[in-house]
Amino acid sequence: MSSLQWEQNTILIVDDNPNNLAVLFEFLTASAFKVLVARTGESAITKAEYSLPDLILLDVVMPGIDGFETCQRLKANDSTKDIPIIFMTALDETENKVKGFDLGAVDYVTKPIQNEEVLARVKAHLSIRNLTKKLQAQNEQMQQEIADRQLAQVSLRQLAEQLEKRVAERTDELSKTNDLLKQEVKERQQVQENLQKSLLELQQAQTLLIQNEKMSALGQMVAGIAHEINNPVNFICGNLNYVRDYTQDILSVLNLYQKHYPDPPVEIETKADAVDLEFIKKDLLKMLDSMQVGGDRIRELIFSMRYFSRQEGLEMKQINLHESIDSTLMILKNRLKFKPNRPTIEVIKKYSPQVVSVECLGGEINQVFMNILANAIDAIEESIIEGNTDDIKPNLYLIQVSTELSKYNTVTIKISDSGAGVSEEVRSRIFDPFFTTKPIGKGTGIGLSISWHIVVDKHGGMLRCTSIPGKGTEFAIELPIQQQVRDMTASSPQPAGY
Ligand SMILES: Nc1ncnc2c1ncn2[C@@H]1O[C@H](COP(=O)(O)OP(=O)(O)OP(=O)(O)O)[C@@H](O)[C@H]1O
Ligand SMILES: [Mg+2]
Repeated sequence: MSSLQWEQNTILIVDDNPNNLAVLFEFLTASAFKVLVARTGESAITKAEYSLPDLILLDVVMPGIDGFETCQRLKANDSTKDIPIIFMTALDETENKVKGFDLGAVDYVTKPIQNEEVLARVKAHLSIRNLTKKLQAQNEQMQQEIADRQLAQVSLRQLAEQLEKRVAERTDELSKTNDLLKQEVKERQQVQENLQKSLLELQQAQTLLIQNEKMSALGQMVAGIAHEINNPVNFICGNLNYVRDYTQDILSVLNLYQKHYPDPPVEIETKADAVDLEFIKKDLLKMLDSMQVGGDRIRELIFSMRYFSRQEGLEMKQINLHESIDSTLMILKNRLKFKPNRPTIEVIKKYSPQVVSVECLGGEINQVFMNILANAIDAIEESIIEGNTDDIKPNLYLIQVSTELSKYNTVTIKISDSGAGVSEEVRSRIFDPFFTTKPIGKGTGIGLSISWHIVVDKHGGMLRCTSIPGKGTEFAIELPIQQQVRDMTASSPQPAGY
């Protein structure tokens, strides 16, 4: 250890003997220590408290408080208790040495003082003292570090907790935002669905309007014609009976003349031969009968026309379906007649006598028959255009209409045709509004959608389409015989190809 190292260390020498003090002071100062001196126990304590020396060399026998007492007080004081104390005592004072150790001294040197011994012991204890201090300092530093680390750990934990809290808060906020977004998406979907529903309703209302317009125009026209023909025909038919009576009277008078004047003048005979009087006599009544038949036929037509065009509004009535179908067929008669490219379309009717009347909106059910029968005629005509006209067979131009009483108090009307039929793709969309395969100007695509609305929505019935492509199509209309109270404005979805 270099002498420079000891410059840091302060030694307090306590002795009442000035010579001893001077010798030790000189020697230790020369050995590079910083040296303080005290001549009494009391002043030693004061100096020790004040300057905190690194080591104290303490004489035992002193006036006032002795070395032991001084030592005891220093050890009792917190600030001075760790300062190592070396007693300076006479060689033979073993008892004192032991007492010194008991009081906390670290060593002793014997008087008369041997400088080298003092130096060796002082250095040894200072080294221990310095090392102890160093260890203490390191210990304190370590404890400080531990405390710092603990503090850092606490801060870290707090930070982690704060972070967790914030993450939880953010997660909560995000999930709330997410919920809001989901809600918004749901609301928008709802709005979209409502819009689509409204659009559909609008389309249906539009189809209804168009069809109603069409039907009411047709109905008005038919009603107008029927009305105009009705009076003159009634006049003709009403007078035919009188004409027959008068004719019979005239003929009976003529017969009487011929009986009583068998040889008339030449002029009369010549004229009678010229007009073939005998033939006229036979034919006149026959002609009148034919006229009667014709007149009755016209009256039937007028009845059918009126039946077809009658407008009942929303009131349900007992309707004879057979008469409805007949009147519709009558309106379509012109279309069924033979054409240059095809023979007459034959209509086979199979009406069940069990079907008497059905509670329905007659005018609207007429519209359904009209739409389905018109489609059937179109389909047959289209199959001729597409098909081979050389190979004309009568059963290729056939429409069959049948009625039957079905289960659950319903009536089923089947209308089938021998047209080309429909593919599955067409069948699945056949009741869609505005779906048509016909050229522009020929079809609007609303006939069947309106028929669906009338049968299903307005009458609580059923409308089905079945088809064998290439062979024909059949529509089945099922209507309840009696209506139940129901919301007739509601529209039902149209299942594909139903
Ligand atoms: N009997 C049938 N045979 C073959 N296809 C048919 C028959 N009935 C309907 N279709 C098909 O269904 C489509 C839709 O018929 P719908 O009556 O609704 O409209 P449209 O006849 O085209 O036009 P319109 O509005 O003038 O009636 C028709 O275009 C046709 O393709
Ligand atoms: Mg149609």
